[in-house]
Amino acid sequence: MTDVLNDPQPFRSAAPLQLDRALGWKYFTEPGEVYERDGVWYLTSVAAIRFAHQHPEIFSSAKAFESLGSPVPLIPIAVDPPAQIRYRRILDPMFAPRVVTPLEPELRRQVRELVDGFKHRGECEVVRDLGSLYPTSVILTLFGMPLKDRDTFIEWTEAIIQASGMNPADMDEQQVNAAMNLFGYLQGYITEKRAHPSNDSLSAVLALTGDDAWTDEEVLGLCFLFVIAGLDTVTASISFLLYHLAQRPELQRQVRENPDLGGKVIEEILRLELPAPMTPRVTLSDTEVCGVKIPAGAFTFLVLGSANREDRPSADDIDVDNADRGHLSFGGGIHRCLGSHLARRELKLMLEEVMSTLPEFSLAPGTQPSCTWPAGTLHLNSVHLTWDAGAVS
Ligand code: HEM
Repeated sequence: MTDVLNDPQPFRSAAPLQLDRALGWKYFTEPGEVYERDGVWYLTSVAAIRFAHQHPEIFSSAKAFESLGSPVPLIPIAVDPPAQIRYRRILDPMFAPRVVTPLEPELRRQVRELVDGFKHRGECEVVRDLGSLYPTSVILTLFGMPLKDRDTFIEWTEAIIQASGMNPADMDEQQVNAAMNLFGYLQGYITEKRAHPSNDSLSAVLALTGDDAWTDEEVLGLCFLFVIAGLDTVTASISFLLYHLAQRPELQRQVRENPDLGGKVIEEILRLELPAPMTPRVTLSDTEVCGVKIPAGAFTFLVLGSANREDRPSADDIDVDNADRGHLSFGGGIHRCLGSHLARRELKLMLEEVMSTLPEFSLAPGTQPSCTWPAGTLHLNSVHLTWDAGAVS
């Protein structure tokens, strides 16, 4: 497999996703449900994507991530069965709701502290003041790392996330240094936790023995993937959520009056505004999807963003009445997002704290939040909000 993730792809790059995702995901649906452009294959319908999810023996994730040339094994995304199944058997219980729930009071405290920090200003920039800080604190808590390291951690991870779609040979000095510093930090922690385990997910992985035991390199790969998969995605969802609510005062009022509605709004924002909207695979053999033949060795994108808008009464708008119909924003099949419970909990706590602390908020006049495309994680670059500071208690 070649370096497709790093190659220019005019068709993909031209998608109009910056300002209007409805338009952008329609762009990918228009040519059909299975097609090829610039040597890359696109699966855009629910049926086509489900087929790929159900056939990891044909649609390899390991081959797709090979081209990134990560210095550590990105466990479990860059691994195919049977090894991937073995990793997930160990990891799934560690990220289940029963593990996330006891963390809730601490995670709520962290987000409340952030919102309290700007509530009297009457304005904030969501990505800077909340979106990037909160998921980093959460990951540090999950791994039993000190919260005082948050800002340094963010500095390293931002450089790495920027470089994550890039060949290591193309990384600049700052990005290489950030990666080396993060690896050094994580390695130090792995050594420390092996010697003095505590009650956190990292210690639980390190405590495994016998055939299940992980090497330091494997644990490092897992931590590194968490940085790439578990920070930017939640940052993106926080800003998409507040961006849409800021434009809908009536929906804000309803969510304040009926907090259960918040969960439905979160699901709809996840469906409409996917942080990880296109997942890569490479075919290991010739195959046929929805009547179209795809050769072996084909680099393929599963266009989750398009499939999420298929067959919906109000496909392009927040539709709380149909929120329980589900979506593909966390992927599907064996690689379905390991952090989905955690991500949903973070979004729920964030929304509850924002809605109970801030009065009605809106987009700052003259600002128009936009996304950068192409990008590994689709996110708004900035979201400036304003509210009446005098109405904050
Ligand atoms: C709103 C937030 C999130 C979204 C939209 C999201 C989305 C996704 C998607 C689409 C996949 C499947 C990738 C593929 O099939 O190639 C995935 C996998 C994964 N996600 Fe998430 N994610 C989110 C948050 C998180 C968080 C918070 C964590 C960890 C703390 C996390 C950890 C992972 C891991 C480890 C995988 C790989 C699973 C495997 O290969 O078996 N994600 N995520």
